[in-house]
Amino acid sequence: MIENIVRVMLVEDNLGDALILSEMLKEIYDNHFKLVNYKRLDEGLKHLNEDFDVIFLDLNLPDSHGIITFKTMNKNAPDLPIIILTGLNDEDLAINIVSEGAQDYLVKDQIDKQMLSKSIKYSIRRKNIENQLQISIEDKELLLRELHHRVKNNLMIISSLLNLQSTYIKDEESKKIFKDSQNRARSMALIHERLYQSTDLKRIDFGDYIRTLTNDIYHTYVMDTNLIKLNVDVEDIRLDIDISIPLGLILNELVTNSLKHAFPQGSPGEIDIILHTQDKKYLLEVKDNGIGFTEDIDYKNTDSLGLRLVTNLTDQIEGEIEFNNKLGTSFKIIFKDEKFE
Ligand SMILES: Nc1ncnc2c1ncn2[C@@H]1O[C@H](COP(=O)(O)OP(=O)(O)OP(=O)(O)O)[C@@H](O)[C@H]1O
Ligand SMILES: [Mg+2]
Repeated sequence: MIENIVRVMLVEDNLGDALILSEMLKEIYDNHFKLVNYKRLDEGLKHLNEDFDVIFLDLNLPDSHGIITFKTMNKNAPDLPIIILTGLNDEDLAINIVSEGAQDYLVKDQIDKQMLSKSIKYSIRRKNIENQLQISIEDKELLLRELHHRVKNNLMIISSLLNLQSTYIKDEESKKIFKDSQNRARSMALIHERLYQSTDLKRIDFGDYIRTLTNDIYHTYVMDTNLIKLNVDVEDIRLDIDISIPLGLILNELVTNSLKHAFPQGSPGEIDIILHTQDKKYLLEVKDNGIGFTEDIDYKNTDSLGLRLVTNLTDQIEGEIEFNNKLGTSFKIIFKDEKFE
């Protein structure tokens, strides 16, 4: 509001109705208001930059009809309070339009001075608070995005440090342990990278993540790409960060295992990675047609870290493991996401 003058835009093609509003405003504000009347929606839109405090909008205009009139105005004037002023006393439409963001829905022959005065005052105040909240949400989103970016960078630094340190190690076995840890840090980094790039800051496109992660792991372990084939068959499924991080680590372990253990001494083979929905649950399968587990290994009871991580992390996401060792090795991880609850 400039100098205590309320500046009102009225988009209304009926001259009589415009006059009635003008008279009421005169009674409410004396001369401390300015009313500008446009007869068409496109004219109103053209003048939005002229510092208005509130917009009164008729829904049926020569160039626009119904709720779309409001939607168009609201899209172009997201920061201004819009009050619908219509001849149509339709409760469903009113609720609909207020849910879309209109501040009020007034029926022409039902308004009086008090009602109008309150409506304007409350609409301006409410919209003001709404705008502040919107700014605060955007700030928080920016912060969260920045945070994911930094977490990702820090994890990448850890990954690089492990790589650098491993160059000082002579023992081949210990070198491998460093390489595995490096990959674990990187698979988590990738989740955070996806999160800050995504419009939704809590969920990531897990199918897309699988494609990138497995392709990365594949190229760190496979020298001869003609020998081992990687088939990825994944639906585009969005998963919450609380599930994505453990599941990313599980995937990392299983794919790394297939690449490291299933095809010894340069034997050829294939690895399949599948993600889809099944009976209100998700199913992630990592399967290879390699040598399979030897008799003495119980996947639930290993001394090694990899499969212990797989069982513990599956518990953490309240999932189940189905293991099959008949033709090569297959691990199915069946889990739920809050979407199905
Ligand atoms: N896909 C597979 N095909 C054949 N054997 C496998 C497969 N996955 C795992 N194994 C066997 O199970 C053992 C345990 O796997 P696990 O991932 O726990 O340990 P690791 O891969 O040896 O080391 P790390 O702890 O770094 O993962 C492996 O050493 C290997 O012998
Ligand atoms: Mg392993």
